[in-house]
Amino acid sequence: DWIMGDYIEEAVAKIREQVGDEEVILGLSGGVDSSVAAALIHRAIGDQLTCVFVDHGLLRLNEGDMVMEMFEGKLHAKVIRVQAEDLFLGQLAGVTDPEKKRKIIGGLFVDVFKAEAEKLKAGNQGHKGATFLAQGTIYPDVVESGGTKTKKATTIKSHHNVGGLPEQLGLKLLEPLRELFKDEVRALGVALGLPPEMVYRHPFPGPGLGVRILGEVKKDYADLLRRADAIFIEELRNHRDEATGKTWYELTSQAFTVFLPVKSVGVMGDGRTYDYVVALRAVQTSDFMTADWAELPYALLKKTSGRIINEVRGINRVTYDVSSKPPATIEWE
Ligand code: XMP
Repeated sequence: DWIMGDYIEEAVAKIREQVGDEEVILGLSGGVDSSVAAALIHRAIGDQLTCVFVDHGLLRLNEGDMVMEMFEGKLHAKVIRVQAEDLFLGQLAGVTDPEKKRKIIGGLFVDVFKAEAEKLKAGNQGHKGATFLAQGTIYPDVVESGGTKTKKATTIKSHHNVGGLPEQLGLKLLEPLRELFKDEVRALGVALGLPPEMVYRHPFPGPGLGVRILGEVKKDYADLLRRADAIFIEELRNHRDEATGKTWYELTSQAFTVFLPVKSVGVMGDGRTYDYVVALRAVQTSDFMTADWAELPYALLKKTSGRIINEVRGINRVTYDVSSKPPATIEWE
């Protein structure tokens, strides 16, 4: 619409003025905020922007490829994909404590990103280096870190946001979404041509599947979980509530699958199976501080469990989490 069109023109002009002919680095995570920031900055300065996408191997099915297809393929933005799965899984081997896992993933993420940013800052062969670091900071983040809001329950689980990075890297900060609320960021993303499915995705934690695989994180577990979770999400999108006409993906605030590293007995054909268990989690909430488990239709649960057990060899039991927050948290770790 024309109002958003005007907003984009203004924002683009502002970015061009601020950046001039200098170069910008942006950490692309696949999440809404960094994606919209990337699309907007790319609209403004094109190839003066380089996105760094750290792929920690704990993303959802095909997520890394989809990020590349969108930003490199469709928008023609410069994107460096750092394939760091081995590094992350290597450091996570043998680690079972959720907070330790978060620290390792968050720490490595910063290290890998910083190393890449240092290279871009240095430049090469007569090509001057980057001087700006762009971040997808949105208004609620600004308010929160300003201490205006009361401290959230972030002490229960450490969330890794990358504070202080521009200073550490000696880069100037570019934050074009600083004045926007989440719904405005989403509308901007759609206006910039990002697919609505990307812009209206449920939130995904920074440590990714690292906190959705209980205990030790292993590649095999991540692969099983990715496939099971993709089925659940697909079925949530396929099932519509008759009363509202909305899909169950839209009717839930966050929905995902959790991998339980325990085996249970099952039967398949003439044989006995002894395979892993997953839990489906779907919640409704307005602020993520409290949440109700979603009363998903049995037909949806039935279809999902049938498909997971039939299509994902290695999983023979599916459970549904009926715990609300509090006292349970949304994630299992
Ligand atoms: P909990 O599990 O605390 O989750 O009820 C509340 C919201 O926070 C998300 N979450 C995280 N996000 N890093 C993140 O970026 C984390 O370590 C993390 N832990 C939980 C969770 O997905 C939910 O939306």
